[in-house]
Amino acid sequence: MSDILFQPYRLNKALELNNRILMAPLTRCMADDNLVPTDDMVAYYARRADAGLIISEATIIRPDGQGYPNTPGLFTDAQIQGWKKVTAAVQRAGGKIFAQLWHTGRVAHPYFFGGEDVLAPSAEKVEGTVPRRRELTYVTPKPATLNDIQQLVQDYAQAAANAIEAGFDGVEIHGANGYLIDQFLHHDSNKRSDEYGGSPENMSRFALEVTDAIAASIGWEKTALRISPGAYFNMQGDARDRQVFDYLLNELQNRDLAYLHIGIFDDSMEFDYLGGRASQYVRSRYHKTLVGVGGFTADSASQAIDAGEFDLVAIGRPFIANPDYISKVRNQQDLVTYTDDMLATLV
Ligand code: FNR
Repeated sequence: MSDILFQPYRLNKALELNNRILMAPLTRCMADDNLVPTDDMVAYYARRADAGLIISEATIIRPDGQGYPNTPGLFTDAQIQGWKKVTAAVQRAGGKIFAQLWHTGRVAHPYFFGGEDVLAPSAEKVEGTVPRRRELTYVTPKPATLNDIQQLVQDYAQAAANAIEAGFDGVEIHGANGYLIDQFLHHDSNKRSDEYGGSPENMSRFALEVTDAIAASIGWEKTALRISPGAYFNMQGDARDRQVFDYLLNELQNRDLAYLHIGIFDDSMEFDYLGGRASQYVRSRYHKTLVGVGGFTADSASQAIDAGEFDLVAIGRPFIANPDYISKVRNQQDLVTYTDDMLATLV
């Protein structure tokens, strides 16, 4: 393994990372019933503060963004105060942390927010039931009106401002994995015929409006984005999605994100319409800081970074299994293998 992973990396004027390993965003469903981070979550994140950057578990921007039990929020004062404890503990230990901002769109469930409407680009429902709450069947969403969309953009920007108030070093917009922003970007979920659908420019509009509104609120150097050009989760791929992401990546190339992050579970997956792996596709069109993820070990990640495939790596499941992942890798110690039963406790 080369030592590239342990070289510092300057994201921009405001932020330098101590190493090139990010802790991937990992939903744990352990916030309290008011969606406030708990003291156990404070300790969990602080134990991982030696990552170059922690990306928080996905955190909902408003009540109707919730699709899983006990996922934290960033829309009430109590939630902001709860996150302050997390960010302070991470920073006290020398780390940095971004908040991942989330709205689940059509995979939200009214059960969680006591509401009626689930908002999405179009009335295209997901078949199936909510993980961890299998008795809840997904509902047909209501297509967001232009007013709904404007309000969503404002609410993303407000949640980003709340994240900064809570002490986060920045935010990562969750534009990946089949959730609201991604639903606008894929033909499977976006059947609109207004200015938010039908063409690559229109389908990219919501993602770019959210990104620009957040950057206007907290600054580009604190604004990052995660995207999934390959549909793989709660979403069917469509060859036409390629043009949408070609357009989006070109627009992003002209902006100054802190970084762009690929959303995928396994980067060895190939997508016909992308001409290969998601990371190869994004790298060929985006030449600023790129974060790769999905099934990497420290060895394979350092090779990929050496080869210029991406600049930083995010590590997910191994970080759940090994709170001391960074020191173990640095000292070439054996890692504990991740298993799904580890999700039951916050170690
Ligand atoms: C995830 N992943 C994820 N992604 C995201 O953008 N926001 C999230 O909140 C979550 N939550 C989450 C929970 C759990 C339990 C897993 C296993 C995964 C995806 C994650 O960030 C990452 O892309 C994948 O885990 C692939 O990386 P590893 O685990 O192979 O290193």
